[in-house]
Amino acid sequence: MTHTVRWNLHENEKINSKEIQEAAGFLRNGMTVAFPTETVYGLGADATNEEAVAKIFEAKGRPSDNPLIAHVATKKQLTDLVDNLPEFAEKLIDAFSPGPITFVLPSNGTCAKNVTTGLPTIGVRIPDHPIALELLKEADIPVAAPSANISGKPSPTTADHVWVDLNEKINGLIDGGSTGVGLESTVIDCTTELPIILRPGGITKEQIEAVVGTVLVDPVLATGLGKPKAPGMKYTHYAPEVPLWLIEGSVDKIQSVIDQELTKGNKVGVMASDETALLLQSDQVKQLGSRDNLAEIANNLYDVLRSFKNGDTDLIICEVFPETGIGQAIMNRLQKAAVKHIE
Ligand code: TXA
Ligand code: MG
Repeated sequence: MTHTVRWNLHENEKINSKEIQEAAGFLRNGMTVAFPTETVYGLGADATNEEAVAKIFEAKGRPSDNPLIAHVATKKQLTDLVDNLPEFAEKLIDAFSPGPITFVLPSNGTCAKNVTTGLPTIGVRIPDHPIALELLKEADIPVAAPSANISGKPSPTTADHVWVDLNEKINGLIDGGSTGVGLESTVIDCTTELPIILRPGGITKEQIEAVVGTVLVDPVLATGLGKPKAPGMKYTHYAPEVPLWLIEGSVDKIQSVIDQELTKGNKVGVMASDETALLLQSDQVKQLGSRDNLAEIANNLYDVLRSFKNGDTDLIICEVFPETGIGQAIMNRLQKAAVKHIE
């Protein structure tokens, strides 16, 4: 058991505080620190220190073949970790960093081998969050950081989510309030002739196309068949405590599935857009945000998923959302979290 120091920063106006310096010192000394980014909270450790990185895998219960993203504060620090930067990758970095996108590039071996889990490539990103950037600048090392949840659970979008999962398993936690995007970064493979989206996320396919023209999507994302290029995409993920069912179709169809389950004596939780939620009746109906504002739905998704508890709820029913813009990432996460999909 480890004592977890918790620093509260979200009400502090001044970011470069003694708390950040202390947290950066923890990282430099091989300890683990969870911190907010613009997507979700990350669990960080010195990416050049194999022993420190091993602590991340242990705290999360993460499979040892799932590589970590190295987080840095500047483009210079990013290019210091890679062997070669294709022109299109540089264009994307200039267009979207700092921001919710991770670039998979040929590794030059600077990071410890358990960061890349033996792959010749490394995922690198510059997060767009004042606390994350200040922490990375102050630590002045690349910081390996997966999402700060127990493996398999939804990613944390508040410090309390991290606390529930990892208290006494990590050395520190910076509470910086709720994260902005609410879903993880887009992972884009830049080691091939054309960029390939390996995980949809905060930067959308449409945004990427606007910069580089053609972008491919890992076919495994669409079909679910074969071996994904991002090792992490093969695992069960984002799973709430309670089984999640996705229902495609009209409000009447969703209501009929709810009624069927209520009749069986099941306690049925529902999550839906504000518009749909107002029309549905069940034990607990939770609103994700307006259908016209998919960014709001993305932002609330994990918090609402985590709010359903065993004992109070036997199953969660959720509607499907249009796969445009951030909707692609929302549906990717919901499909991976769901045990059943009714079309
Ligand atoms: O928004 C995010 O990306 C958050 C915050 C904390 O930055 N991090 C995050 O990390 O979501 P994680 O470890 O939960 O997911 C990283 C994903 C995994 O699916 C992993 O397999 C993939 O990125 N990945 C990392 N390095 C890779 C590489 N070299 N090649 C292919 N996929 C890679
Ligand atoms: Mg994760």
